[in-house]
Amino acid sequence: MPRAQSQKRHILVSRKKKVYMSDTLTTQNNTFEWSDTFDLGYQPMDSTHREFVDIVNVLIHCPDEEFLAAMDKFKIHALSHFGQEDQWMTETEFPAGDCHIGEHAAVMASFEEVYALAKNGDTKTGRGFAKELQNWFPGHADYLDSALAHWMFKRTHGGKPVVIRRTIKETHLE
Ligand SMILES: [Fe+2]
Ligand SMILES: [Fe+2]
Repeated sequence: MPRAQSQKRHILVSRKKKVYMSDTLTTQNNTFEWSDTFDLGYQPMDSTHREFVDIVNVLIHCPDEEFLAAMDKFKIHALSHFGQEDQWMTETEFPAGDCHIGEHAAVMASFEEVYALAKNGDTKTGRGFAKELQNWFPGHADYLDSALAHWMFKRTHGGKPVVIRRTIKETHLE
């Protein structure tokens, strides 16, 4: 495994441990919901990311007896999601894609570890992993996926995507 990949993997696993330790500190409303801030302006990626958010939210909140099935669903999604992005980067010779591809690989390696534990009845570790995915996704989308979205959009549309986000302002009614 290249050096960058093993470093990324270590970081993810370390952060994951932090989540396990701070389980009791989670907020009351821990629903993982789609936010307009996740929109990157490249439709194929945005629709996959909406699916990611829904699937991870199920992983976090589903009943224990449905957890393994949710893990299976996550694996199918993640292989397709990360596989598609990896393929875009490879086929279009996206510059500096190694770090991004390495981060996907790190998530899948961590997944396989917690999946093996979940099969032996340890759903708590799997829940911690799912919460860590919730923490991980906004930064990954912001720093790595957004660069790829711009790159892909430019190749297909000839310019940078324009993302229009709703702004919610507090209104005081008298
Ligand atoms: Fe992505
Ligand atoms: Fe990605």
